[in-house]
Amino acid sequence: MSDIAISILNCDFNNIKFELNRINDSSIKYVHIDIMDGYFVEKNTENLFDMKAICKYTNKKIDVHLMVKKPKIFITNFLKYNPDIISFHIESEENISENISLITSHGIKCGIAINPETDIQTLNNYIENIDVILIMSVVPGKGGQKFISSTFKKIKLIKEKLLKTNPKIKLEIDGGINNLNSKSLNKSGADILVSGSYLINQKNIKKASISLLKV
Ligand code: DX5
Ligand code: ZN
Repeated sequence: MSDIAISILNCDFNNIKFELNRINDSSIKYVHIDIMDGYFVEKNTENLFDMKAICKYTNKKIDVHLMVKKPKIFITNFLKYNPDIISFHIESEENISENISLITSHGIKCGIAINPETDIQTLNNYIENIDVILIMSVVPGKGGQKFISSTFKKIKLIKEKLLKTNPKIKLEIDGGINNLNSKSLNKSGADILVSGSYLINQKNIKKASISLLKV
Protein backbone atom coordinates (compact mmCIF):
# COMPACT_ATOMS: atom_id res chain seq x y z
CA MET A 1 0.00 0.00 0.00
CA SER A 2 1.22 3.51 -0.75
CA ASP A 3 1.89 6.24 1.75
CA ILE A 4 0.44 9.70 1.35
CA ALA A 5 2.38 12.95 1.35
CA ILE A 6 0.39 16.16 1.46
CA SER A 7 1.78 19.15 -0.42
CA ILE A 8 0.95 22.25 1.64
CA LEU A 9 1.90 24.65 -1.17
CA ASN A 10 -1.69 25.90 -1.39
CA CYS A 11 -2.66 25.76 2.28
CA ASP A 12 -3.75 28.73 4.38
CA PHE A 13 -0.38 29.96 5.68
CA ASN A 14 -2.10 32.51 7.94
CA ASN A 15 -3.58 29.59 9.87
CA ILE A 16 -0.71 27.14 9.67
CA LYS A 17 -1.36 25.66 13.12
CA PHE A 18 -4.96 24.86 12.19
CA GLU A 19 -3.91 23.47 8.80
CA LEU A 20 -1.30 21.17 10.32
CA ASN A 21 -3.66 20.05 13.07
CA ARG A 22 -6.21 18.81 10.58
CA ILE A 23 -3.40 16.89 8.86
CA ASN A 24 -2.12 15.49 12.19
CA ASP A 25 -5.48 13.89 12.68
CA SER A 26 -5.13 11.75 9.50
CA SER A 27 -3.11 8.74 8.39
CA ILE A 28 -1.04 10.91 6.03
CA LYS A 29 2.64 10.06 6.51
CA TYR A 30 4.51 13.11 5.18
CA VAL A 31 4.16 16.87 4.88
CA HIS A 32 5.63 17.70 1.46
CA ILE A 33 7.42 21.06 1.24
CA ASP A 34 7.75 22.47 -2.30
CA ILE A 35 10.72 24.82 -2.55
CA MET A 36 10.98 26.87 -5.76
CA ASP A 37 13.81 29.29 -6.53
CA GLY A 38 12.32 31.48 -9.29
CA TYR A 39 14.89 30.11 -11.77
CA PHE A 40 14.33 26.37 -12.09
CA VAL A 41 10.65 27.23 -12.12
CA GLU A 42 9.05 30.67 -12.34
CA LYS A 43 7.62 30.84 -8.85
CA ASN A 44 9.70 31.53 -5.74
CA THR A 45 8.60 29.90 -2.48
CA GLU A 46 11.82 30.39 -0.51
CA ASN A 47 10.07 32.50 2.12
CA LEU A 48 6.70 30.82 2.06
CA PHE A 49 7.33 28.05 4.58
CA ASP A 50 7.94 28.88 8.23
CA MET A 51 9.84 25.67 8.94
CA LYS A 52 10.14 26.36 12.66
CA ALA A 53 6.37 26.60 12.98
CA ILE A 54 5.82 23.62 10.69
CA CYS A 55 8.16 21.41 12.75
CA LYS A 56 6.53 22.64 15.94
CA TYR A 57 2.94 21.89 14.91
CA THR A 58 3.19 18.79 12.72
CA ASN A 59 3.42 15.21 13.93
CA LYS A 60 4.27 14.02 10.39
CA LYS A 61 7.60 13.35 8.72
CA ILE A 62 8.96 16.13 6.52
CA ASP A 63 9.49 15.49 2.79
CA VAL A 64 11.37 18.30 1.03
CA HIS A 65 11.10 18.75 -2.75
CA LEU A 66 13.66 21.20 -4.11
CA MET A 67 12.71 22.65 -7.51
CA VAL A 68 15.87 24.72 -7.71
CA LYS A 69 18.83 25.16 -10.07
CA LYS A 70 21.44 24.97 -7.33
CA PRO A 71 20.29 22.60 -4.57
CA LYS A 72 23.38 22.59 -2.32
CA ILE A 73 22.62 25.73 -0.33
CA PHE A 74 18.99 24.65 0.10
CA ILE A 75 20.03 21.16 1.23
CA THR A 76 22.39 22.71 3.79
CA ASN A 77 19.61 24.95 5.10
CA PHE A 78 17.16 22.09 5.51
CA LEU A 79 19.51 19.76 7.39
CA LYS A 80 18.66 21.47 10.69
CA TYR A 81 15.00 20.50 10.40
CA ASN A 82 15.94 16.82 10.14
CA PRO A 83 13.59 15.94 7.28
CA ASP A 84 12.97 12.29 6.43
CA ILE A 85 13.54 12.84 2.68
CA ILE A 86 15.19 15.59 0.64
CA SER A 87 14.69 15.37 -3.13
CA PHE A 88 16.31 17.53 -5.77
CA HIS A 89 16.02 17.40 -9.55
CA ILE A 90 18.14 15.43 -11.99
CA GLU A 91 17.82 18.56 -14.20
CA SER A 92 19.52 20.75 -11.55
CA GLU A 93 22.86 22.32 -12.39
CA GLU A 94 25.25 21.16 -9.69
CA ASN A 95 27.17 17.91 -9.29
CA ILE A 96 24.48 15.31 -8.63
CA SER A 97 26.71 12.81 -6.78
CA GLU A 98 28.04 15.48 -4.42
CA ASN A 99 24.53 16.55 -3.47
CA ILE A 100 23.45 12.93 -2.96
CA SER A 101 26.38 12.46 -0.54
CA LEU A 102 25.60 15.71 1.24
CA ILE A 103 22.09 14.44 2.00
CA THR A 104 22.83 10.80 2.81
CA SER A 105 25.90 11.57 4.94
CA HIS A 106 23.48 13.25 7.38
CA GLY A 107 21.32 10.14 7.63
CA ILE A 108 18.57 11.67 5.50
CA LYS A 109 16.97 9.75 2.64
CA CYS A 110 17.88 11.16 -0.76
CA GLY A 111 15.41 11.47 -3.60
CA ILE A 112 16.04 12.40 -7.21
CA ALA A 113 13.12 14.12 -8.91
CA ILE A 114 12.58 13.79 -12.64
CA ASN A 115 10.49 16.04 -14.90
CA PRO A 116 7.84 14.58 -17.23
CA GLU A 117 9.88 15.21 -20.38
CA THR A 118 13.23 13.94 -19.03
CA ASP A 119 14.62 10.60 -20.22
CA ILE A 120 14.80 8.03 -17.42
CA GLN A 121 18.25 6.94 -18.61
CA THR A 122 19.59 10.10 -16.94
CA LEU A 123 18.99 8.35 -13.59
CA ASN A 124 21.26 5.38 -14.43
CA ASN A 125 24.45 6.53 -12.71
CA TYR A 126 22.74 7.40 -9.43
CA ILE A 127 20.25 4.61 -8.80
CA GLU A 128 22.49 2.65 -6.45
CA ASN A 129 23.04 5.61 -4.15
CA ILE A 130 19.55 7.01 -3.66
CA ASP A 131 16.45 6.05 -1.65
CA VAL A 132 13.61 7.65 -3.62
CA ILE A 133 12.77 8.55 -7.23
CA LEU A 134 10.27 11.41 -7.32
CA ILE A 135 8.43 11.12 -10.63
CA MET A 136 6.76 14.39 -11.62
CA SER A 137 3.29 13.78 -13.02
CA VAL A 138 2.89 17.49 -13.87
CA VAL A 139 5.38 20.07 -15.12
CA PRO A 140 6.74 21.46 -11.83
CA GLY A 141 5.95 25.02 -10.83
CA LYS A 142 2.50 25.12 -9.32
CA GLY A 143 -0.24 23.09 -7.68
CA GLY A 144 -3.64 22.30 -9.12
CA GLN A 145 -2.51 21.01 -12.53
CA LYS A 146 -3.83 18.03 -14.47
CA PHE A 147 -2.13 14.65 -14.02
CA ILE A 148 -0.10 13.64 -17.11
CA SER A 149 -1.31 10.14 -18.01
CA SER A 150 1.96 9.00 -19.65
CA THR A 151 3.29 8.88 -16.06
CA PHE A 152 1.90 5.34 -15.81
CA LYS A 153 4.21 4.16 -18.59
CA LYS A 154 7.13 5.91 -16.93
CA ILE A 155 6.43 4.22 -13.61
CA LYS A 156 6.37 0.83 -15.36
CA LEU A 157 9.68 1.47 -17.14
CA ILE A 158 11.38 2.71 -13.97
CA LYS A 159 10.04 -0.27 -11.99
CA GLU A 160 11.56 -2.64 -14.56
CA LYS A 161 14.87 -0.85 -14.36
CA LEU A 162 14.88 -0.96 -10.56
CA LEU A 163 14.17 -4.68 -10.37
CA LYS A 164 17.59 -5.26 -11.90
CA THR A 165 19.44 -2.55 -10.02
CA ASN A 166 17.98 -1.33 -6.73
CA PRO A 167 14.51 -2.72 -5.90
CA LYS A 168 14.50 -1.00 -2.52
CA ILE A 169 14.06 2.48 -4.01
CA LYS A 170 10.71 4.07 -3.27
CA LEU A 171 8.73 5.60 -6.12
CA GLU A 172 7.07 8.88 -5.20
CA ILE A 173 4.59 10.39 -7.67
CA ASP A 174 3.91 14.13 -7.53
CA GLY A 175 1.26 16.30 -9.16
CA GLY A 176 -2.42 16.16 -10.04
CA ILE A 177 -3.21 13.22 -7.78
CA ASN A 178 -6.82 12.79 -6.64
CA ASN A 179 -9.34 10.07 -5.83
CA LEU A 180 -9.87 9.37 -9.55
CA ASN A 181 -6.30 8.35 -10.43
CA SER A 182 -5.03 7.14 -7.04
CA LYS A 183 -6.39 3.61 -7.44
CA SER A 184 -4.46 3.02 -10.68
CA LEU A 185 -1.36 4.58 -9.12
CA ASN A 186 -1.57 2.23 -6.14
CA LYS A 187 -1.87 -0.71 -8.53
CA SER A 188 1.10 0.53 -10.57
CA GLY A 189 3.39 0.05 -7.59
CA ALA A 190 3.80 3.67 -6.50
CA ASP A 191 5.08 3.89 -2.90
CA ILE A 192 4.31 7.52 -2.03
CA LEU A 193 1.52 9.63 -3.54
CA VAL A 194 1.91 13.40 -3.20
CA SER A 195 -1.39 15.22 -3.23
CA GLY A 196 -1.81 18.95 -2.77
CA SER A 197 -4.93 20.76 -3.90
CA TYR A 198 -7.19 17.69 -3.83
CA LEU A 199 -6.50 17.11 -0.13
CA ILE A 200 -6.11 20.70 1.05
CA ASN A 201 -9.46 21.69 -0.46
CA GLN A 202 -11.34 19.01 1.48
CA LYS A 203 -13.14 19.79 4.71
CA ASN A 204 -12.36 16.31 6.00
CA ILE A 205 -8.70 15.60 5.11
CA LYS A 206 -8.74 12.41 7.16
CA LYS A 207 -11.53 10.89 5.08
CA ALA A 208 -10.12 12.16 1.77
CA SER A 209 -6.67 10.72 2.49
CA ILE A 210 -8.22 7.30 3.12
CA SER A 211 -9.88 7.51 -0.29
CA LEU A 212 -6.41 7.88 -1.88
CA LEU A 213 -5.24 4.64 -0.28
CA LYS A 214 -7.87 2.40 -1.90
CA VAL A 215 -6.63 -0.33 -4.24
C1 DX5 B 1 4.33 20.95 -8.29
C2 DX5 B 1 4.64 20.49 -6.89
C3 DX5 B 1 3.63 19.54 -6.33
C4 DX5 B 1 2.26 20.13 -6.22
C5 DX5 B 1 1.24 19.10 -5.84
O1 DX5 B 1 5.31 21.78 -8.76
O2 DX5 B 1 5.88 19.84 -6.83
O3 DX5 B 1 4.07 18.99 -5.10
O4 DX5 B 1 2.22 21.20 -5.34
O5 DX5 B 1 0.00 19.72 -5.83
P1 DX5 B 1 -1.26 19.20 -6.66
O6 DX5 B 1 -1.69 17.91 -6.03
O7 DX5 B 1 -2.22 20.29 -6.52
O8 DX5 B 1 -0.83 18.97 -8.09
ZN1 ZN C 1 6.33 18.59 -5.00
